[in-house]
Amino acid sequence: MLAVEKNRILTQVSPGTPMGEYLRRYWHPIAGASEFDDKTIKAVRLLGEDLVLYKDLNGTYGLVDRQCAHRRADLSYGFVEQTGIRCNYHGWRYDEKGACVEQPYEDTVRPDLREKRRCSIKAYSVKECAGLLFAYLGPQPAPELPVWEPFTWQNGFREIVVSEVPCNWFQCQENSCDPVHFEWMHDNWSLRLKGTNGPYAAKHLALKFEEFDHGFVYKRIREGGSEKDPYWTTGRVCLWPNAFYLGGHFEWRVPIDDENTLSIAWFFMRVPQGREPFVQPSVPTWFSPIRDQNGRWISTHVMNQDFVAWVGQGRIADRSKETLASSDGGIVMVRKRFFDDIDSMHQGNDVKGTIRSADAARCVELPYFQKLLMRDGLRLEDYSKYPLLEQRLSGFVHLAGQPSAIRAAFVEAFGLRGTHYEPG
Ligand code: FES
Ligand SMILES: [Fe+2]
Repeated sequence: MLAVEKNRILTQVSPGTPMGEYLRRYWHPIAGASEFDDKTIKAVRLLGEDLVLYKDLNGTYGLVDRQCAHRRADLSYGFVEQTGIRCNYHGWRYDEKGACVEQPYEDTVRPDLREKRRCSIKAYSVKECAGLLFAYLGPQPAPELPVWEPFTWQNGFREIVVSEVPCNWFQCQENSCDPVHFEWMHDNWSLRLKGTNGPYAAKHLALKFEEFDHGFVYKRIREGGSEKDPYWTTGRVCLWPNAFYLGGHFEWRVPIDDENTLSIAWFFMRVPQGREPFVQPSVPTWFSPIRDQNGRWISTHVMNQDFVAWVGQGRIADRSKETLASSDGGIVMVRKRFFDDIDSMHQGNDVKGTIRSADAARCVELPYFQKLLMRDGLRLEDYSKYPLLEQRLSGFVHLAGQPSAIRAAFVEAFGLRGTHYEPG
């Protein structure tokens, strides 16, 4: 249980709020670069701010205020030029730093006043990495953008999946440090959704949570497992401050505002041995729906099941009414670290996990027990020894609605046509 005021601190993300200021000190993925293959401008809302993400004809990305400085027209209806974005109302043009570099009528009739008229709109930094576009909305100097080790892996099929989840970001992130839900939500509930009544999945017998520079690791022993299990020796990562890392994929929970979250996930599947070299020209991005035709939440896929839990907790979970138990040890640690680190930020310190050296940011390792499989690959016939990896060969289990063209590209990359994974 948490006092109402403390819940407010965890959940409010607009400028000037403690958590809003805290989260602005990290880079956040906000889109797939491939979204800009067939468009140049995207309206985005991020941490309670209305912005426009664009790619100009030089290929430079900009993230600027949604509203034009002149008379406040919506720049997401503007158009890009060789450099920058132009307002569609009277043609004022801005560069990626937010500087208004052209005011067509004024520049024609009063070129002498050009300097005097200088104005700007707010603008934030954007960087592309591993097919994702990351934004930084915090104070300068910006920290380095961490290049997580999986972003450097070769010969993999990567894809980016985006969904909008209508609830606060923090209940989404608490899910990253919540091992017991796997047993119930993904194992036992999935079976029942398929119309069976059992058996019950292996129970959790022991849990352990440990902090490290870039988050928390949770460790578990389930019935049939032991302390020698990689789930206990290595564990899995609740990645600071708003992501989940499971080896083959990342899930970020990026606050749109206090009541909405952008779920943005990045997936990597190493092609089987013998299918190398495999190089993707660009990382495909697709949008996953979260409601079915009856307006109910989709529950057929793993992350969709998580979404059901998150939105079910309410638009902003009321933590003054919860009943925490021993399965919530990780959640308690995560909340405490946020409160402590917000205090530390107010004293002028860097926030947890900040990387200031370009060298250190070049390849940041995270705990994962199947790294070698990702690096060296497996023979197709050996996938059956790794049920979680093998599952992926028959279809995309994480989110609903994978476009058939992406499945086809995956089947081709993996050489699955005509196998029992893709008999057709
Ligand atoms: S409102 Fe944008 S140029 Fe006038
Ligand atoms: Fe889950």
